[in-house]
Amino acid sequence: MSGARSVVVLRQFPASVLVLAAWIVFSVASSEAQLEVGFYNSTCPRAEKLIRTVVRAAIRRDPGNGPGLVRLFFHDCFVRGCDASVLLDDVPGSTGTVEKMSQANNPSLRGFGVIGRAKRVVERRCRRTVSCADILAFAARDASFVMGSGIGYYDVPAGRRDGRVSNVSEVLNNLPPSFFNASQLVASFAAKNLTADDMVTLSGAHSFGRTHCATIAFRLFPRLAADMDVSYGRFLRRRCPAATGGRRDPVVELDPVTTLLLDNQYYNNVVAGKVPFTSDATLLTRNDTAALVGLYAGNRTLWATRFADAMVKLGNLDVLTGDQGEIRKFCNRVN
Ligand code: HEM
Ligand SMILES: *[C@@H]1O[C@H](CO)[C@@H](O)[C@H](O)[C@H]1NC(C)=O
Ligand SMILES: *[C@@H]1O[C@H](CO)[C@@H](O)[C@H](O)[C@H]1NC(C)=O
Ligand SMILES: *[C@@H]1O[C@H](CO)[C@@H](O)[C@H](O)[C@H]1NC(C)=O
Ligand SMILES: *[C@@H]1O[C@H](CO)[C@@H](O)[C@H](O)[C@H]1NC(C)=O
Ligand SMILES: *[C@@H]1O[C@H](CO)[C@@H](O)[C@H](O)[C@H]1NC(C)=O
Ligand SMILES: *[C@@H]1O[C@H](CO)[C@@H](O)[C@H](O)[C@H]1NC(C)=O
Repeated sequence: MSGARSVVVLRQFPASVLVLAAWIVFSVASSEAQLEVGFYNSTCPRAEKLIRTVVRAAIRRDPGNGPGLVRLFFHDCFVRGCDASVLLDDVPGSTGTVEKMSQANNPSLRGFGVIGRAKRVVERRCRRTVSCADILAFAARDASFVMGSGIGYYDVPAGRRDGRVSNVSEVLNNLPPSFFNASQLVASFAAKNLTADDMVTLSGAHSFGRTHCATIAFRLFPRLAADMDVSYGRFLRRRCPAATGGRRDPVVELDPVTTLLLDNQYYNNVVAGKVPFTSDATLLTRNDTAALVGLYAGNRTLWATRFADAMVKLGNLDVLTGDQGEIRKFCNRVN
């Protein structure tokens, strides 16, 4: 009797140990972020509202801050994860060593000032509580909500911690350049565990904001790229005359139709060949990506819903949590 019972106990014991061990291995090895919606409910209940107010005001002042913040979030998450490493300045005595100095970011990234302002406002209420990485994720949501058509005020899981490292050499091998073809783009997103669908969905962010002319000059001169609509190409040539570049590099809006609206117009532009980058036009060259472009072109709410989901997924990339990293006092420098 007691022998049978001890066998049962022995059988149960290793089983529970196994479950526990598996859980520990899973928790440690899993790249799944342990972020939570309402992470600051008790420690800084007004955080998300304060940030939204700052973002709204910044967009009212200069609508370019909206696309700026969305792109800043993408460029943060693809390099070392969503750890606000893109916000760090060079330390005194070094120049060009941090992510923001990469040619992919400098001078085109914008929105740094908005994050700095949001941080100061939040810091006044709740000292050293809200990470810059979370502020950036909230701000990208707020910008998408304010300038989006049909994009709701989606929940943003939070609890990210700020990284202490920013390395300029890690930017170009993680962020896809605008001359990539569809299979290169799919691979670049796959390296971040994002699907081809995620890539197509997130590319819809090119429905607002701008590009510098130097980036697209090779698609306009000496002749128009074969995948570009001719009248759109002529329009771009007028806006981006040859031999521009340098500090006076002009800019042109990414979406010529609804320039200040984050909506599914981008997909109609792709179908029409009225998009600036190879990375946009190339979405028509694969069955799967082309099918999704067509679907989104015809259904604004479907895209808007999927975009919000994909932004949350992007925000999970390689995050620091728990006691990793730190909560920066100033977003542009480590403590
Ligand atoms: C699929 C690969 C992508 C490529 C190759 C790419 C490339 C680019 C380039 C070259 C620019 C113009 C920068 C300039 O010269 O000013 C740009 C702008 C922009 N990108 Fe992307 N991008 C990609 C995906 C994304 C994603 C996933 C997002 C966000 C979810 C995004 C959001 C934006 C926004 C909002 C702008 C306008 C920025 C502004 O107006 O300041 N892009 N992108
Ligand atoms: C924070 O509050 C919201 C709304 O009451 C709730 O949905 C969420 O689960 C809470 N999150 C945490 C981490 O307490
Ligand atoms: C920056 O990244 C490059 C490429 O991964 C690496 O070789 C280099 O050691 C890094 N520099 C620092 C200071 O960590
Ligand atoms: C995409 O670019 C890669 C690298 O240049 C090339 O090997 C591949 O054939 C290209 N794919 C297509 C479909 O053009
Ligand atoms: C992608 O998933 C694999 C397997 O789960 C994991 O090892 C890797 O760290 C993940 N990469 C990223 C960037 O999340
Ligand atoms: C692409 O679509 C065409 C037409 O629908 C189909 O015949 C072909 O098998 C598809 N190719 C792939 C790789 O799915
Ligand atoms: C658009 O997508 C939604 C799902 O988000 C679906 O309910 C709706 O029927 C679709 N509309 C059309 C016209 O296909």
